[in-house]
Amino acid sequence: MQQRALADTGREVSVIGLGTWQLGADWGAVSEDDATAVLAASADRGVTLFDTADVYGDGRSESLIGRFLAANPGHGITVATKMGRRMPQTPQNYTPENFRAWTDRSRGNLGVDTLDLVQLHCPPTEVIEDDATYAALDALVADGTVAAYGLSVETCAQALAAIARPNVTNVQIIFNPFRLKPLDEVLPAAEAAGVAVFARVPLASGLLSGKYTSSTTFAPDDHRSYNRHGEAFDRGETFSGVDFEVGLTAAHRLAEALPDGVSLPAATLAWIASQPGVTAAIPGARSVAQATSNADAATLLDRGFDVIAFDAVVRDVYDELLREAIHPLW
Ligand SMILES: NC(=O)c1ccc[n+]([C@@H]2O[C@H](COP(=O)([O-])OP(=O)(O)OC[C@H]3O[C@@H](n4cnc5c(N)ncnc54)[C@H](OP(=O)(O)O)[C@@H]3O)[C@@H](O)[C@H]2O)c1
Repeated sequence: MQQRALADTGREVSVIGLGTWQLGADWGAVSEDDATAVLAASADRGVTLFDTADVYGDGRSESLIGRFLAANPGHGITVATKMGRRMPQTPQNYTPENFRAWTDRSRGNLGVDTLDLVQLHCPPTEVIEDDATYAALDALVADGTVAAYGLSVETCAQALAAIARPNVTNVQIIFNPFRLKPLDEVLPAAEAAGVAVFARVPLASGLLSGKYTSSTTFAPDDHRSYNRHGEAFDRGETFSGVDFEVGLTAAHRLAEALPDGVSLPAATLAWIASQPGVTAAIPGARSVAQATSNADAATLLDRGFDVIAFDAVVRDVYDELLREAIHPLW
C-alpha cells in the first residue's frame, strides 16, 4: 500500500484509509466482532489511517478502535478523530473549554494521551473563519492533547478558508466522481499550502459500488433511509447529495466504461487517489470483504489501470448528469 506524507507531521498515511462511521451507528447494525474484523482486515492490507468521530455511535467507533490498537501494539496506524457534533453546531459551543472536554473524552475512548489528529466536525462557517478557533486548537497542540488538527468541511469555500490557516494539517471534504468541485480550487490550494486532503464519502455512500437498483432498500436506522433529503444532517453526506435514481444511471455509465476485471468501487478509489492534492480516500466498510477490496484498490494503479481514460468518462458523466444540480451547492 502506497503511503503519503500527512502534511508536515512526520507521519505517513496509506492512500486508502478506512472510514469507521459504519462501526458506530447510522448504517444499520454492525456487530462488535464484525467491526473488529474490519479494522484487522484493513490493517493487514496496509491501511494506516482510520477516520472516526466522537459522535459515531456516541463513542462506539472510537472505543472499538481504541481496543483494537491496544491489542495490536506497533500497529503504525494514525487515528483521525473528529469533535463537535455531540452538541448543537452553534458558534457559542466552539469554546476552548468544550474543545478540552471533547478531546479528553476522545483520548479516553481511544486509550491515548495524545490524539494523532483531531478534526472539527463540519462546524459553521463562522467558526471556520474565527481566529479564536485556531488559537484554541493551537493550545491543544502546545500542551500535547493533540499532535495535529484539521477540519472536516461541507463546502469548497469552507475548505479554502481552512487551508489558508498556517497550522491546519488536513481538510476532509466530499470528493468522488459525483462531486468534482474540489478539483477546481481546493485540491490545487491544498497542494500549494502543504495541507493534506482526506476524500470522504468516496463511494457516494455506496452508490459508486454499482450494486444498488431502483428496488434497493435500506434499514430504517440507516441514514440512506432517513436523511435522503437532509432531514437529519447535511443532505450532501447521503449519496453525496445526488438523487438516488440519477446516481444509479451515472454509476451504470461509469461501470460500463471499465475493462473486464476492474470493479467500479476499485476504479473510483484508484481515480480519487490519483488526483494531485489528495492524500487519502477514506471509504467506509461494513464487512471484511468491502474493507479488503477497498484496500486492494490501491494496487490498481500499479497494475496498469488506465486512470486517464476513466477520468475522461468521469468528467463526461458529471457534466451531463450531475454538474448542474451538484456544483453550485457545495
Ligand atoms: N462530516 C464528516 O466529517 C463525515 C461525513 C461522512 C463520512 N465521513 C467519513 O468518511 C467515511 C466514508 O464515507 P461514508 O462511509 O459516508 O461513505 P462511502 O465510503 O462513500 O460509502 C460507504 C458504503 O459503501 C459501500 N461499500 C464500501 N465498500 C464497498 C465495496 N468494496 N463494495 C461494495 N460496496 C461497498 C457500503 O455500503 P453498504 O452499507 O450498502 O454495504 C458502505 O457502507 C465515513 O466512514 C466517515 O469516516 C465523515
